[in-house]
This record gives sequence, C-alpha cells and structure tokens, in this order.
Amino acid sequence: MDQVGKDSFIDRLDDAAARVAALLESLLRETPLAGEIARPEHLIAAIRHGVLNGGKRIRPFLVLETARLLDAPKEAALRVAAALECIHCYSLIHDDLPSMDDDDLRRGKPTVHVAFDEATAILAGDGLLTMAFDILSAPETALPDTTRLTLVNQLARAAGVGGMVGGQALDLHAERFAPDETGIVRLQAMKTGALLRYACAAGAIAAQADADTVKRMTRFGEIVGLAFQLADDLLDVTSDAATLGKAAGKDAGRGKGTLVSLHGVEAARRRLDGLVDEAALLMKPYGAAAGTLIETAGFIASRDR
Ligand code: IPE
Ligand code: IPE
Ligand code: MG
Ligand code: MG
Ligand code: MG
Repeated sequence: MDQVGKDSFIDRLDDAAARVAALLESLLRETPLAGEIARPEHLIAAIRHGVLNGGKRIRPFLVLETARLLDAPKEAALRVAAALECIHCYSLIHDDLPSMDDDDLRRGKPTVHVAFDEATAILAGDGLLTMAFDILSAPETALPDTTRLTLVNQLARAAGVGGMVGGQALDLHAERFAPDETGIVRLQAMKTGALLRYACAAGAIAAQADADTVKRMTRFGEIVGLAFQLADDLLDVTSDAATLGKAAGKDAGRGKGTLVSLHGVEAARRRLDGLVDEAALLMKPYGAAAGTLIETAGFIASRDR
C-alpha cells in the first residue's frame, strides 16, 4: 500500500496529472517518429493547446489507480493512461466545434478552433485519435501482445460508434428529439461513461487480472461514468464559467435533455450520493487499498469544476 493515506487526495491527483502531462509533453514533440515523415508545426501547436492545458486528468488517474490496486506494470499503465487522455482531449476539441456545442472556452482558455481555426481543430482531433492507438500499440507499452491487443480493441469499442462517438451523435440528436430518462441514461453512458468505464477496466486488463476482477472494475467504471456526467450536468446549472473554465448554463439553452432538467438539482444530488455508495460497495473486497478509488468516486460526484 504505497500511497494510501500519505498525501491528500488532491496531492495524489495532482502528482498523477503531472506524470501524465510529462509523458504527453514528450509524445507531442515536433520531431517525427520512426515511420513518420514530418509533424506540421501548427498542427502540433494546436494539439498541444488542446492537451497540455490543465485538464483534471481524471481518466488517466482511474487507469493508474486501478492498475496500482491490481499490480499492473507502472510504465505501461502510464502509457495506457496517456493514450486514453488523447482520446478524451480529441473528444473535447470536437465537442466544442461550432457544428457541435459551439463553445469558445475550455479549461480556462480559448477552444482550439478559436485559438487556431476550425479545420485545424478537426485535424488536431483526428491526429489525437490516431495517436492514442499509436501509443497503446507501440512496443514501449511493455505488456504481453495479447494484453496490448485487448487494450487496443477495448479502447476502439469504448471510443467508437457504439461508445463515445455514438453517444455524441445521440446527444446532438437529442437537442431536437427529447429522449426519455432511459434514453438520457443510455446516451450519457455512451458519450461520457464509455471512456470512464474503459479507464477502470484498462487498469485491470493491464494487470492481467481474472475475468471477475475485470468485470468488477468495469462495473465500478460504469457507475463512476454515470456520476461523472450527472455532476457535469449539475455544474452546468449551479456553477459559472470562471469556476468551470468552460461555459455554464448552456444545456438548458440548447434544450439538452439531462437528468437535472428532468428531476431537478436536489434529486440529482441524491442520485450522486447513491452512486458513490454503490461504487464504494463494489470496492469493499479490497479494503483500505481501494481507498483512493473510492475517494475518486466521491471527488467526481462533488467536484466544483
Ligand atoms: C468534460 O470532461 C467532458 C465530459 C465528459 C463531461 P472533464 O470534466 O474530465 O474535463 P477536463 O479533462 O478536466 O477538462
Ligand atoms: C461532452 O459532454 C462529452 C464528450 C466530450 C464526449 P458535454 O458537452 O456536456 O461536455 P462539456 O460540458 O462541453 O465539457
Ligand atoms: Mg457536448
Ligand atoms: Mg460540450
Ligand atoms: Mg457539459
């Protein structure tokens, strides 16, 4: 139990974020890798703007913490974490585009299409999506080939048409055809939940854990994923742009169906408490060693940004 109880939760989150940022910094360099021809300076600049800009790095943290709990190789877990953050940052760059949520502010800075231009933002997202699979599949992600292949395949499923991208499509569709509660829960499990679920499953897969353990971590990730988007929707109503580093009060304006718009702020808070309890129950077999993962669920539910 190396880290549990040593520093505050926020210290541990910050420390992991710094390690992920350092790896991303080196992966996003301008010099081409073997097999590449050149890396256009303005494209790399746009990608760096969209990645190296103070995200909370919650998904990488979940990868690293599940990996630590189950004893996965540390360096490989860090690369899995960085790959997932590339997918997440790409999803944000595209989510903010004028044809999607049309947002100007992200992580307290101008969005990529504002700081650069729309075409560059599209290509920055495309570049990050591909880079994620480069990072995962490269031999430097030192895991047995079958394990690496499982991680690649599961990431494709989480990020693709049946996961995050599909969820984003349903989310845009929902602005015109308001879904019922079941529809909202499903689209959120896809647009946001799928990457968080992958984060938790990936730590277990990298550790070559048995099927039951992977299943338990996957379920933990699903619950945390639900809580994550519920908290995001709550913050959209209760917070402001200065605190969030992104626009607030937009969901109602765009007619986004959320559980908050359906049931109100208090019901959403109660649901979040229930999800955190459920997440903690799932981690019970691990005792104190899972303390950080339980704290992460609590942080996700009660965060202020
Ligand atoms: C925001 O994700 C987008 C959603 C899925 C709701 P985060 O709140 O994790 O954003 P960053 O990475 O910390 O900026
Ligand atoms: C974004 O959901 C989900 C993805 C980017 C996949 P939102 O549109 O609610 O996220 P924010 O509020 O812009 O961060
Ligand atoms: Mg959106
Ligand atoms: Mg958005
Ligand atoms: Mg939102």
